[in-house]
Amino acid sequence: MNALGLIYGVIFWAATIAIVAGVAYKIRLYWTIPAPLKIPTMPAPRTKGGVVFRMFKEVAFFHSLFRSDKLLWLFAILFHYGLALVLIRHSRYFMEGMGGVLLFLQPFGKYAAFAMIIGLIALLARRFMIDRVRYISAPSDFLMLVLLLVIGISGALMTFVSHVDVTAVNSFFISLRTFNFSGWNLPGDPLVIFHLTAVAFLMIIFPISKLMHAPGVFFSPTRNQVDDSREKRHIAPWAAELDKQGVDYLHELKK
Ligand code: HEM
Ligand code: HEM
Repeated sequence: MNALGLIYGVIFWAATIAIVAGVAYKIRLYWTIPAPLKIPTMPAPRTKGGVVFRMFKEVAFFHSLFRSDKLLWLFAILFHYGLALVLIRHSRYFMEGMGGVLLFLQPFGKYAAFAMIIGLIALLARRFMIDRVRYISAPSDFLMLVLLLVIGISGALMTFVSHVDVTAVNSFFISLRTFNFSGWNLPGDPLVIFHLTAVAFLMIIFPISKLMHAPGVFFSPTRNQVDDSREKRHIAPWAAELDKQGVDYLHELKK
């Protein structure tokens, strides 16, 4: 174990706990909050299978964004698909050896860095250059883009310009995962340290940031509801008791 290994070991365990517990807490909140009204955006699917298909189009292809803003859609897709490939490639830092699909995707993950960075620069330029977008942009909108850009650029510098000891980073993260304290050694390369510090910061703020749109999209009532208000009566859980009282009252009146 070296000093840097100890410091970053503690930071990464804290960041992992923060992101896992924070996201779990938020999902529990989303899960339990009542949706009092049927508000699927029309035209809406009328079956559960239809909702699954709608959600798939939304998550995989940003369907509603495509219909509303083609240019934003293009840059958003560029960034998110780039990020997805980069993250898949990053699995190699947490495991010993690799095969199959992960190995096949390695080169794609490497060059996906450019898609990610170009997408982010365009999204950032949009927030500066379009008046009506700048007007509604909060500091955190800029912070997220800049943070991801800083992570992406420092990563690409390591991959394409100034190579670092990837094996050392790999064994450090395996030692973290297995609590093998003697292996908590981190090379003092400034780019590695910079990349990792920014990533830990991202992990810590993830649950309290707009990045929660990733799990949040699944809980959007305008997208996840079945359009069956003509066939079924919709009652929010908190209204069930009141509703029963109302129905009982009507029965009383009929008697
Ligand atoms: C289920 C996964 C995800 C889906 C479906 C998704 C979808 C979207 C969509 C549709 C936008 C809208 C663009 C806009 O209207 O401004 C967006 C924006 C954004 N997403 Fe995601 N996203 C996902 C995961 C992530 C993750 C994991 C990150 C980063 C760690 C991320 C970072 C961002 C950022 C920074 C923006 C804002 C771009 C801007 O400033 O306009 N997303 N996302
Ligand atoms: C604990 C988590 C992470 C570790 C240990 C890590 C480590 C590394 C290392 C060692 C490289 C250089 C690879 C090489 O020279 O071949 C790299 C590259 C890169 N990293 Fe990370 N990184 C982490 C998280 C992230 C995250 C969350 C993002 C994006 C938001 C990111 C984006 C990139 C990019 C775009 C590259 C360049 C392309 C590539 O080689 O995949 N990294 N990372």
